[in-house]
Amino acid sequence: MLGLNLLKSYMPIQLKELHNAANECTKYYIKYSNMLCVDHIKHAKERDVRLMTFDNISELTKIMKIFPDAELVLRIASNDSLSLLPFGFKFGATLKDAIALISACKDMKAKLVGISFHVGSCCYSPLAFVDTLKRAKELFMEAERLGIHLSLLDIGGGFPGDEESKITFEEIASAIEPVIDALFDDGVQVIAEPGRFFCSASTTSALQVYSKRDYTSRRMGENGDIVEIEEVQYYLPDGVYGTFNNIIYDHASPITRPLKEPPLDAILKNSTFFGPTCDSIDVIAKQIHFPSLEIGDWVYFLNMGAYTVAAGSTFNGFERPKILYKMIKEGLGHYL
Ligand SMILES: Cc1ncc(COP(=O)(O)O)c(C=O)c1O
Repeated sequence: MLGLNLLKSYMPIQLKELHNAANECTKYYIKYSNMLCVDHIKHAKERDVRLMTFDNISELTKIMKIFPDAELVLRIASNDSLSLLPFGFKFGATLKDAIALISACKDMKAKLVGISFHVGSCCYSPLAFVDTLKRAKELFMEAERLGIHLSLLDIGGGFPGDEESKITFEEIASAIEPVIDALFDDGVQVIAEPGRFFCSASTTSALQVYSKRDYTSRRMGENGDIVEIEEVQYYLPDGVYGTFNNIIYDHASPITRPLKEPPLDAILKNSTFFGPTCDSIDVIAKQIHFPSLEIGDWVYFLNMGAYTVAAGSTFNGFERPKILYKMIKEGLGHYL
């Protein structure tokens, strides 16, 4: 089962985590990703963290100057048009450039050990994986032709992390498993870098309405008349400068739900939910139909575990939310 193999995966880590990770686990389970600055490479070298990625000649030259014993993984570009957050614009060599880089590795006597890719975060289609796996295979063969034996294939992240996703982890795994089996022999170690897969569904944000007001906006209608739109505006203690930065950076649309089950005949009102800061961009949900709430009522948002608190700020002096860790079977009632 591919899923199990994937879970035995490496995680891409940044410098701050590198120090602790290098103490905690064997160096062979750390892979250093993204463009690396000189100090980071030196730090990795000091801690004997060898595995690192590159996708261009200047990066390769730089790594080789500082850490010639590094074990290099060539990151290639994918067709990431099928992902919510494409990465190809920033990372990954084209097939043509990758072939030239393999040859450069040979000339520089660099220890090229494998190929990696990332199909883009929140990938909608296994085809992106399948297509890039085929390209990776071409590069394995090209390296072999030049006398370089590659033994590592890193299929990156991009796996969904919750049940609302357009495609499931199982669908991706069952589409790519036979392709990996057919293209790569058992000597090739296949790893992955799942990010949101692990944590998206792990976290629920629960917020208590601390202020509300009725608001009427006016806009010009088609025939020039002024149209008035009434809404209820609620103010919540967390927003796009905090946990809900995923609305901006991760193209997320968190779904607002009332904690208290509304009666079946509840009247739904046009409602907007703001975060707490002074900024009018701080909107969690705009003009959605929602049962009426009072100050002190709770709303909650599922699947808030990936790319949320990690990138949140304390702008305007608002603390990051308190995180409660619970093992619960069902329902939110235990939390509050
Ligand atoms: C190099 C690398 N690997 C893995 C991940 C995790 O990606 P995802 O959350 O899509 O699984 C990221 C996310 O940015 C990344 O940059």
